[in-house]
Amino acid sequence: MIERIFPESGLSGQALDDDLLAAPFTAPGSKTWVSFNFVSSIDGAATVDGRSGALGNADDQHFFQLMRRNADVILVGAQTVRSEGYGGELLSPEAQAWRADRGLPVHPPLAIVSGSLNLDPTLEVFTDAPVRPLVITTAAAPPVRRAALAAVADVVDAGADTLDAGALLAGLAGRGLHRVHSEGGPTVLGTFAAADKVDELCLTVSPLLVGGTAKRIADVLPGGDGEGAGPRAMTLAQIHKAGSMLFLRYVRDTGPSEGPKV
Ligand SMILES: NC(=O)c1ccc[n+]([C@@H]2O[C@H](COP(=O)([O-])OP(=O)(O)OC[C@H]3O[C@@H](n4cnc5c(N)ncnc54)[C@H](OP(=O)(O)O)[C@@H]3O)[C@@H](O)[C@H]2O)c1
Repeated sequence: MIERIFPESGLSGQALDDDLLAAPFTAPGSKTWVSFNFVSSIDGAATVDGRSGALGNADDQHFFQLMRRNADVILVGAQTVRSEGYGGELLSPEAQAWRADRGLPVHPPLAIVSGSLNLDPTLEVFTDAPVRPLVITTAAAPPVRRAALAAVADVVDAGADTLDAGALLAGLAGRGLHRVHSEGGPTVLGTFAAADKVDELCLTVSPLLVGGTAKRIADVLPGGDGEGAGPRAMTLAQIHKAGSMLFLRYVRDTGPSEGPKV
C-alpha cells in the first residue's frame, strides 16, 4: 500500500491518487511545467542489465502511470524508446476516462528527442500511436531519416546543431503543450538540468544495491560535459512510501515567496 509520509496525510487508495493529481504545480510567470519521473536503486543505478524494469514493482508502476495522467505531452529520449520498447496506448482505459472527464485530450502525444533520427518508422511507437507522435531534433539532422519519419510523426527542430531545451519547450508551448512530463532517459534529464529547465523530479528509490557500472539518472551525450547551469537547489515537496520503496517528489526551489503551489 502506498502512503504519504510527508506532508503527513491519512489518505490512501483512490483518495491519495486524487490528491496527487489535484493541484497542478505552477511556475511563476510561466504556464510551462517540466516534470521528470525516474527510478533509481539506493546506490544510484538507473538501470539493471540496460533497462529500468528490474528496479520497479507494482507500486512504482502505479505511481509511474499516475504521473502520466495529467500530462499535455510525454517526453522521452530516443534511447529510452529503443531500449524500453515504447508503443501503443500509454494510458489505461481508466486514465483515459479520467482525462475525458476533465476535458483533456484522451491521449497525450509522445514527443521523442533524437539528434540522429535513428528511429525506425515501423516501430510500434509510431505505427500503433493513438495520436501522431512528435520527434524533436535539430536542423542538422539527416534529411533522409527526417523524410522517412515525417510520414509517421511531426518532426520539429529545436536548435541548429545542438538541442536547445528552451526552444524545445517553446515549440511545445506553441502547440498548447505546457505540462511536459518526461520519463527520461538520463541524457534528456542531463540536457534539461544543464539548461535549468527542470521544475519537478519524481524519484522512486528502489531498495536495491546494484553495484557495477550502471548509469545514474542524469547523463550527457558522448563528448558533452553537461555542466551548463550547474547545481540547482530543489525542495522536497512530498514523500510517499510503499514497503521499503520511497517516492520522492522534488520541485524547483524558487524561494519562499513564489514557490510552487503544493
Ligand atoms: N531509471 C529510470 O527511471 C530510467 C528512465 C528512462 C530510461 N532509463 C534507461 O536509460 C537508458 C538510456 O539512457 P540514455 O541517457 O541514452 O537515454 P535517453 O535520454 O532516453 O536517450 C538518449 C538519446 O536521446 C537523444 N537525445 C537526448 N538528449 C539529446 C540532446 N541534448 N541532443 C540531441 N539528442 C539528444 C539522442 O538520440 P539519438 O541517439 O537518436 O540521437 C540520445 O542518444 C536505458 O537503459 C533506459 O532503460 C532509465
